[in-house]
Amino acid sequence: MIKKILIALLILAVLGGIMALAHHVRVAQRNKKELANFAQETPYTAKLGKVLIIYYSWTGHTQDIAEQIATLTRADIYRIQTQEEFKSSPAFYARIKNELNNKIYPALVGNLPDVNNYDVVFVGAPVWWYTMATPLYSFLGQVDFKGKKVIPFSTQGSNPGTFLEDFNATAKNAQMGNYANFNNVGPEYNKAVHNKIVHWLNNL
Ligand SMILES: Cc1cc2nc3c(=O)[nH]c(=O)nc-3n(C[C@H](O)[C@H](O)[C@H](O)COP(=O)(O)O)c2cc1C
Repeated sequence: MIKKILIALLILAVLGGIMALAHHVRVAQRNKKELANFAQETPYTAKLGKVLIIYYSWTGHTQDIAEQIATLTRADIYRIQTQEEFKSSPAFYARIKNELNNKIYPALVGNLPDVNNYDVVFVGAPVWWYTMATPLYSFLGQVDFKGKKVIPFSTQGSNPGTFLEDFNATAKNAQMGNYANFNNVGPEYNKAVHNKIVHWLNNL
């Protein structure tokens, strides 16, 4: 009996591994196809006026994109910071899922930026559980964009879920510009990702 259970568990583990690998391969192929469109270097030509980049980043991916936008647009940059320093652990994922389900968003620290001083405001964050990372919910709950042009962006493993829809529903009085999202990819795609950013900015 125990032997049969062990064999069944082994089969499940192998199947799980095969499915995870197949997913990984599919995502890699999709990234390769998408970023092949941005192989060509494009000069930055956008004229966006006075720009502010607001972002939240836990592990650095969104920060990297935010900093590239800031360099290109010569923007001011504002990092959303949580009072609690989140520690990485398997339990963190379950905790965040629970907090999203119950609309529990973390306390933030730092003075809020004055969006009135800018022509365009970019707002970026990671996707957590197919929606916006909880610190972005905290932030958007405290800011009124008062008709300002707001451009959202996200970074994610592979699935942005309803980030944009949730952003639209939460950002108060924003005049929404074109959203862009960025999958986490390896350094071999650094140039293509940069070209994708330039292309996006030039077409806003
Ligand atoms: C709690 C949690 C949930 C996540 N959920 C998703 C998800 O639903 N879809 C996805 O593609 N990636 C998901 N990710 C991966 C992050 O979106 C991705 O790594 C992102 O680029 C991290 O940005 P950061 O480095 O700026 O924190 C999740 C990460 C965490 C920590």
